[in-house]
Amino acid sequence: MKNELLIKNGRVIDPANGIDKKCDVLIVDEKIAAIGRIEKQAEKVIDAAGKLVVPGLLDIHVHFREPGDEEEETIASGSAAAVAAGFTSVVCMPNTNPPVQNETDVEYIHRKGRQARKTHIYTMGAITKNREGIELAEMGFMAEAGAVGFTDDGGGVQDPAVMLKAMKYATMFDVVISQHCQDNAFAGKGVMNSGYYSTILGLPGIDKLAEEAMLWRDIQLVKKTNVRYHVQHISTAGSVELIRKAKKDSLPITCEVAPHHLLLTEKNCGEYDTRYKVNPPLRTQKDIDAIKEAIADGIVDALASDHAPHLQSEKELEFLSAPFGIASLECALALYVKALIEPGIIDWPQLIELMTSRPAKIIGIDKGTLGLGRQGDVTIIDPEAEYKIDINNFRSKSRNCPYNGWPVKGKVVKTIVGGEIRFEV
Ligand code: DOR
Ligand code: ZN
Repeated sequence: MKNELLIKNGRVIDPANGIDKKCDVLIVDEKIAAIGRIEKQAEKVIDAAGKLVVPGLLDIHVHFREPGDEEEETIASGSAAAVAAGFTSVVCMPNTNPPVQNETDVEYIHRKGRQARKTHIYTMGAITKNREGIELAEMGFMAEAGAVGFTDDGGGVQDPAVMLKAMKYATMFDVVISQHCQDNAFAGKGVMNSGYYSTILGLPGIDKLAEEAMLWRDIQLVKKTNVRYHVQHISTAGSVELIRKAKKDSLPITCEVAPHHLLLTEKNCGEYDTRYKVNPPLRTQKDIDAIKEAIADGIVDALASDHAPHLQSEKELEFLSAPFGIASLECALALYVKALIEPGIIDWPQLIELMTSRPAKIIGIDKGTLGLGRQGDVTIIDPEAEYKIDINNFRSKSRNCPYNGWPVKGKVVKTIVGGEIRFEV
């Protein structure tokens, strides 16, 4: 007996295949078997009338803290949070404790992901050993083990010669080099954006130049190596301009944004509330406007969450000492609806493309579309559902989320992974 799941009457949006129409989706034995008007009976039928039926969402930037900081998040808790948020695939960052830096580490993450049986788990590997920026990590072995890219996220690779070497090496495996652009010479011990508010608050600032200088430098290295290069969580108007120009010059550069760089500004740090301490820091309205314009223009390739869970006890430290990061996986979709769809910057098909097929292309995985024969990863969204974000409903182990209580619109009602319903409301 074949395992059949029929999703009827939804608005099916599959940007990679140019589909946006009311129809049905049939999944047979874990794979997409048909899209259109399907009259047959199936073992299981879902009525998706009034709902969006889209390829399973993909988040290419999450921190699941395993190994090392399991009290903040585990691959199991993070995976449960992911499917509740509509993500059928996520990419874990390697800044764990110890970092993901060899073949065994990559296999460990994959194994934990399989055991959790929720979302598909991918991982990036560190570029340098212990993320120290000195010696390259075992990138080749990690690529063979299935690492989908390399980054020292949490910080950038400071030494240009080391970065050049990493890029040259990455081209041999055709993997993407992903960078948290931040030149420590400019960032110093900064804890928020450098400007009027950091001065008033008496807090050390991180100049925009920290991001832009490293990005400019890396672009020169990309010109030399032609490596696939991805810029994580861009936060400034200057970065937008650099990427715009690099793309115009046909360089193989992609970039992502995080929700907080569209919805919050440096002003939010005004009460020394550490929930707003994040890296790169919250910038200004001008920066937000430039990033939104870039999204409308197609310059941005992915909407990620940069889900960065932290212990309450650590976030309760004073602003100078608290860790950087915002836990936002479980509200990411609704936040992007608020930032981008509600003000009319992009529409649903564009948003879905930026959360499915385009990020999949960055890391080179066969995901993010409802193409026939593809794995049956599908997310069903109620675009009209209105509710308030409530951190008490999070599956994530952490609660460092400044959006608690925000009114939002757009809710995931079912998440299907490999033809199996892994989450439903
Ligand atoms: O705010 C951040 N938190 N930025 C990073 O780059 C790292 C992340 C984390 O791991 O907590
Ligand atoms: Zn980062």
